[in-house]
Amino acid sequence: MRSLTLRVWDRATSVLGVAEDPAIAFEHVSKSYASDRGRGESGAAVDDLSLAVRPHEVLVLVGPSGCGKSTTLRMANRLVEPTSGRIMLEGEDVTTVDPVGLRRRMGYVIQNVGLFPHRTVAQNVATVPGLVGWDRKRTAARVDELLDLVGLDPDRYARRFPHELSGGERQRVGVARALATDPPVLLMDEPFGAVDPVGRRRLQNEFARIQRTLGITVMLVTHDIDEAVRMADRVAVLSTGAHIEQLASPLDIVARPATPAVADLVGRGRTARLLALGRLERADLDPSVQDGGTGPALAVGAELGDVLDALVGADGPLAVQDEHGRVVGSATAATVVRALDRLTERAEETDATADADAAVGTLRR
Ligand SMILES: Nc1ncnc2c1ncn2[C@@H]1O[C@H](COP(=O)(O)OP(=O)(O)OP(=O)(O)O)[C@@H](O)[C@H]1O
Ligand SMILES: [Mg+2]
Repeated sequence: MRSLTLRVWDRATSVLGVAEDPAIAFEHVSKSYASDRGRGESGAAVDDLSLAVRPHEVLVLVGPSGCGKSTTLRMANRLVEPTSGRIMLEGEDVTTVDPVGLRRRMGYVIQNVGLFPHRTVAQNVATVPGLVGWDRKRTAARVDELLDLVGLDPDRYARRFPHELSGGERQRVGVARALATDPPVLLMDEPFGAVDPVGRRRLQNEFARIQRTLGITVMLVTHDIDEAVRMADRVAVLSTGAHIEQLASPLDIVARPATPAVADLVGRGRTARLLALGRLERADLDPSVQDGGTGPALAVGAELGDVLDALVGADGPLAVQDEHGRVVGSATAATVVRALDRLTERAEETDATADADAAVGTLRR
């Protein structure tokens, strides 16, 4: 198992573009369940999927119910065996790794949490350490540490049973349990499903912080496109048979959907999503420099949605500063429209790279 320092180093090298094995690679993977036979076309739940998850990234699979998302995750940790193809974990064929060792290297957070109802929070979190034979003292210390990490005070929560928790608290316990043996890879199937929108947003933020701190590689499944674009480094939009419609950054997915299925998914609210993902650039500005005015100054790099908010109710153009606090131009509603146009054009250029990445299988960050 790799130490935290080593992972931070890994992350640095992968950001610098040093080639590494993918964390998980699906190579021409198919899965037909017995009940699929005779179901027209190939009919497989997963049909010839090739996909590489980069070390330390959050890759989100999004797509309609029944398109094969859970099957794909479950093949990675061998809860389901592929009918054909190969799955590699850090360069090693998963079928050659014994399942217990495999699950220690891959945490798994399940759709609807799946806590053991007759075990306490502490016992749930200690499941995998128990399986791999940690002693009591080490396990107890780890349980406390993890409950703290997910924001549950061990003194208050460790001895409770799952039915004594709120939905959001249960989901946190699910995340803590999956992180117990410090796995480099985390598989998450609709992990924030059972929580109200506000609690969900808070859990997503908390999880993003934990993911960045630990440098874990995450493969996350959802059918919520907003969750996908908020959480992901890259999004894979799937259709029936886990067919990849598009694999790209959240911004590219929203700015320029590659297929009608992606366009449908991004659909209404596309501009609102672009406002949340896009940032103001110097090239968007009106070069006629304003003298600063009164209101709070806008800055290059601001979220477009915030720029629009500032403009609504402002009395005309607003001054925009660079990172040194110098006024470099001004922004109007036309600036925001220009930025949106720029984003949709840029996405056109980068799509080809993302597709090539998907096809090749060995990836650079
Ligand atoms: N154990 C099984 N036996 C037979 N068919 C199955 C089994 N598990 C899943 N399937 C079928 O395989 C297909 C893909 O199922 P999967 O659970 O991977 O979908 P999903 O994308 O996770 O859907 P959801 O968003 O509803 O969770 C579906 O048609 C489903 O009915
Ligand atoms: Mg599912």
